[in-house]
Amino acid sequence: MSDESIRVLFVCTGNICRSPLAHAVFQHHVDESGCADLFEIESCGLDAYHVGENADERMRSVAARNGIAIDHPARQLRTTDLEYYDVIYGMDRAHVRRLKKLTRYPGKIRLFRDSDPVRTDELDVPDPWYGGLSGFDYVYDIIERTCRKIVDELAVRSRAG
Ligand code: 4NP
Repeated sequence: MSDESIRVLFVCTGNICRSPLAHAVFQHHVDESGCADLFEIESCGLDAYHVGENADERMRSVAARNGIAIDHPARQLRTTDLEYYDVIYGMDRAHVRRLKKLTRYPGKIRLFRDSDPVRTDELDVPDPWYGGLSGFDYVYDIIERTCRKIVDELAVRSRAG
């Protein structure tokens, strides 16, 4: 990681499904494309219910099937994160609303699916927690393609200085 790295934070509700997957997939893509030096990556949750837990077993098994390991103890957003990170992605619109209320830097807050290369009417990464296994595969696909796109977007921004 260089001094010039872009600090990227993914935020969801519990930090055990969507944001730790985005964190791990994003890390995987930057490692594969040889631009890991450009980024510092983290994830957290807005709520504290699952602090200290690793990601949901169902999310980890879908990720593992796709060659991605998730190994991240859930943590809650800290006020200092809102200053420290350069780009902060809410995984759904409710996260974006909550983040914008908490921060003095609303320009850093983005809706994750605004970068989804597949345009649909769905704007949120749906919460898979209460549903069946197919919901986790569905979320994996969204997060995989969108992280790939975000790596491209931010790497271009970084090269532009
Ligand atoms: P996440 O999913 O925000 O993607 O980590 C959730 C996990 C747990 C809960 C809600 C969402 N919960 O209410 O416990």
